[in-house]
Amino acid sequence: MIVAMVVAVAVGGTVAVGVVHTPSMPPGDNGGVMRTLKIGTIAVDPPVVLAPMAGITNSAFRLLCRRYGGGLYVSEMITSRALVERNPETLRMIRFDPEERPRSLQLYGVDPAIVGAAVGIVVDEDLADHIDLNFGCPVPKVTRKGGGAALPYKRPLLRQIIRAAVTAADGRIPITVKTRTGISDQHLTYLDAGRIAQDEGVAAVALHGRTAAQMYGGAADWTAIERLVQALDIPVLGNGDIWTATGALRMMHRTGCAGVVVGRGCLGRPWLFGELEAAFAGRPPAEPPRLGEVAKIMYEHASLLADDVGDDKAARDFRKHVAWYLKGFPVGQELRARLGMVSSLIELAGLLGELDPDQPYPADVAAAPRGRGTGARRVALPDGWLDDPNSAAVDPAAELDISGG
Ligand SMILES: Cc1cc2nc3c(=O)[nH]c(=O)nc-3n(C[C@H](O)[C@H](O)[C@H](O)COP(=O)(O)O)c2cc1C
Repeated sequence: MIVAMVVAVAVGGTVAVGVVHTPSMPPGDNGGVMRTLKIGTIAVDPPVVLAPMAGITNSAFRLLCRRYGGGLYVSEMITSRALVERNPETLRMIRFDPEERPRSLQLYGVDPAIVGAAVGIVVDEDLADHIDLNFGCPVPKVTRKGGGAALPYKRPLLRQIIRAAVTAADGRIPITVKTRTGISDQHLTYLDAGRIAQDEGVAAVALHGRTAAQMYGGAADWTAIERLVQALDIPVLGNGDIWTATGALRMMHRTGCAGVVVGRGCLGRPWLFGELEAAFAGRPPAEPPRLGEVAKIMYEHASLLADDVGDDKAARDFRKHVAWYLKGFPVGQELRARLGMVSSLIELAGLLGELDPDQPYPADVAAAPRGRGTGARRVALPDGWLDDPNSAAVDPAAELDISGG
């Protein structure tokens, strides 16, 4: 209560709500893109998905984003083995707030039996309304064991995992697959992976237009997304380098994808989901928030985190979001540094109160890339991994036991 009062005084900047007209788009017109995406029985309108992001898309961030607009808001990656073993931290991570409907959970796994068991638990215990399977993680600790983005190279193993998941779901909730274009330009896997996923009965496939070797560097290959759209009958979701609502419409137009998956573009900008909703409805977006309103959103984000994990942990977890929220605003180094080291919500409220609430949103920042941009590197793989794409051997060590990437 005290905290809430402090904040009302400290970050009580005015909200400027106005409209910006996009000259190329008449009101009510979104350029002819489909508004509704069907993932099994789930209608997603607008056809926008918050990308699963480990360490980011926890319940607090999902709640914050979904308050701005419709869409599907996916959890952080959850490890199948940890779920099957009922690891307490994993059980906490898969909790959804009652406001969160539909509940969308991303699972990681490399062993068909364990993935099947995890899906069975989710469905039998009504823990989620949708499961996405992660075959796109590029981090060395995962690919070195043959998991994540390395796995689709082993076509039979990929098929067995997807089959186990779809069989365990038994039509009660939809299963989707998220993947990258391949391990490297020499070892592309997405077309085979998409066809296998479709054969096995998944409801949609999301494609991040980068190889594992690219990590987050270079530009996402939207042509690959277009190729996958042409190759499959089920919905394909396009992912990679959507920084603005117009960027999302552009991807839909250019690739023919059925929906978009937005990751780094919403970091420090949860209101992007409002802009996306407006763009898909053919409405002009609201004016971006001034610094005072951004400060309120920052505090709301930290408070939602605190509801889940307590004040101390929330403040520490929130630190990584500070630079994204303040990107491009004229805020002194010292205040930035103190915000980046914040250790309680009271302290956060006080520091946010030092910001100039009337600073307008820096126009050039909205469309600029943000978040991870790690460039190309050699992908760590198990010895001999590339020798035989037709193997279904599972390395039990590749089953991570900790969720969240
Ligand atoms: C911090 C971070 C964490 C991520 N964690 C996951 C994850 O757990 N599961 C997953 O499938 N992708 C993960 N990704 C990849 C994103 O879902 C998305 O595919 C990627 O960022 C490309 O989309 P973007 O250009 O819109 O950011 C992560 C990305 C980032 C930046």
